[in-house]
Amino acid sequence: LGMELPELITEQLAVQALPGRPQFGHKGTFGHALVIGGSKPFVGAPLYSAHAAYNTGAGLVTLAIPEEIYPVIAGQNQLALIRTLPGAEGHFNGEGVEADLFEKVGAVAVGPGLGRFDAGEAFIEEIMEHLDDQPIIIDADGLYHVKDRLEMLSRYRGAVILTPHPGEMATLTGRTVADIEADRITVAEDFARKYQVHLVLKGHRTIIATPEGTWVNPHGNDALAKGGSGDVLTGMIASFLAQGAGAAEAMQAAVYVHAASGERAAQKYSHYGVTPGNIIETGKEMLKEME
Ligand code: APR
Ligand code: MG
Repeated sequence: LGMELPELITEQLAVQALPGRPQFGHKGTFGHALVIGGSKPFVGAPLYSAHAAYNTGAGLVTLAIPEEIYPVIAGQNQLALIRTLPGAEGHFNGEGVEADLFEKVGAVAVGPGLGRFDAGEAFIEEIMEHLDDQPIIIDADGLYHVKDRLEMLSRYRGAVILTPHPGEMATLTGRTVADIEADRITVAEDFARKYQVHLVLKGHRTIIATPEGTWVNPHGNDALAKGGSGDVLTGMIASFLAQGAGAAEAMQAAVYVHAASGERAAQKYSHYGVTPGNIIETGKEMLKEME
């Protein structure tokens, strides 16, 4: 039909997609990733994203969280800088998004553990207004909060990367999960083209659809099917973006490292026993072989 078949994500493709590591680089060279998320029920999610970013090479990571969960986050975190924004009932309340939060930030991820709150839509809109053209990843309930503002994503000057699992894709498109799963590639491609966004449609055989092309990931397994594993992926994408990879390259490298780590970790810890923390640790072994 003259349609181009999607390419497979391979180790070789991921190696080419990895950002370089200049020998004389300092932490500024390797970029500053900002993770915005967390809420009282979801304290682990933003931590997993931040730690994944640090463990895959970002020079600096800032974790912006609602002030109510500061003590727990601070007790669990030894890596990221922490910024608190005002909260209410265990979530952000929408206030406190100010220009200095984004100073020298090379990539933003919003959504891990964010939860749903009344001011959520306006909160994400304000974040995007403060950015120039830095890439932004929107994940988890961040996707819920932008579902009625997709034109805002199309208008953004930089790359917008959305990382829905099939349920979140259903929320974004108004279609059923069964519909999406029956035709994952076409659904992802149509959405990416229509809204001019970069999409990671997660699940078994993750699809990367961008306005420039489509890739299918043959790696990964059920060991990844555990709360927190998506947050690790988001952190890895943010990290590679902060280090200067283009949007498609950051997605390819992160999807590969994450999925291949799931396979490697399952050999060591069993398919039952792998945790998101193991994915972060094993990711370092994968990177060792790739660098
Ligand atoms: N095969 C391959 N990969 C898989 C498989 C599988 N069988 N199952 C899961 N994965 C991968 C996905 O491709 C994705 O990269 O694991 C990751 C799971 O990500 P999410 O579905 O976002 O899961 P999670 O980390 O639990 O998300 C935490 O955020 O998305 C919200 O509602 C979600 O509250 C939940 C929270
Ligand atoms: Mg998720």
